[in-house]
Amino acid sequence: MDKRQLPVGFMDSGIGGISVLKSTIELLPNEDFIYYGDSLHAPYGTKSVDEIKQLTFNVVDYLLSKGIKALVVACNTATSAAINDLRNLYPDMPIVGIEPAIKPAVVTNQGGRIIVMATPMTIKQDKFHHLLAQYNDQAEIVPLGCEHLMEFVEEGILSGSQLEAYFDEHLQPYITDNTETIVLGCTHYPFLYPYLKKYLNNDDIHIIDGSYGTAMELKRRLEASNLLNNNHPGNIIIENSLPSSNIIDLSWKLLNMPTYEKC
Ligand code: DGL
Repeated sequence: MDKRQLPVGFMDSGIGGISVLKSTIELLPNEDFIYYGDSLHAPYGTKSVDEIKQLTFNVVDYLLSKGIKALVVACNTATSAAINDLRNLYPDMPIVGIEPAIKPAVVTNQGGRIIVMATPMTIKQDKFHHLLAQYNDQAEIVPLGCEHLMEFVEEGILSGSQLEAYFDEHLQPYITDNTETIVLGCTHYPFLYPYLKKYLNNDDIHIIDGSYGTAMELKRRLEASNLLNNNHPGNIIIENSLPSSNIIDLSWKLLNMPTYEKC
């Protein structure tokens, strides 16, 4: 079989990585994708590195058994814990991860505060500290570990009083008059974008995420390996470790949500 016709595998600790899949489909509409959400074991972001690695390896083994030509780790937490090991294990396969979009936030920064919302584990990792060290002298960057925020998305809660209470307690204290950008450093958070925008009620605060950068990187890697599939309408499969049709329905609902022009 022509390898170009194989799907690209996507994984996340749950349904958050659908935000990255969405950007990727817009960029690569002719590719087939198989998305696996590990909602049964979510959240990853409060587990140990070893646990996250093992869970990630299990999902990747499953995707490999299905036959994939490339892998997207659509999870900041799994990327920081496991991407180096995955690249060592599978040196011949294009493997793309995601990291908080600090670089684009700094490049466009006009001197204001940058808040990085991510899971506690992402923020603890060396990978994040190295990223921070690269840009810390160019802007005021405030990492914010958002324990349990991903669970709202897993439960399909994308707006309302519970989220408002969460933001009041965990985000509002960090919003200063000079806050310029909020980086959504967990792939679940882009689904909270419309409500967060309304909550902040301040068009001067930009909200960005890394999904487009990751999709672009996948495109570059497929091109470089001559693996792009150009000649057919792409097909999408979504699977989940939770044995429930609700989570699959919610995944499709998120995939079909309107795409918001990020500001
Ligand atoms: N979606 C994941 C991320 O991008 C993590 C959520 C979790 O499992 O804690 O970090």
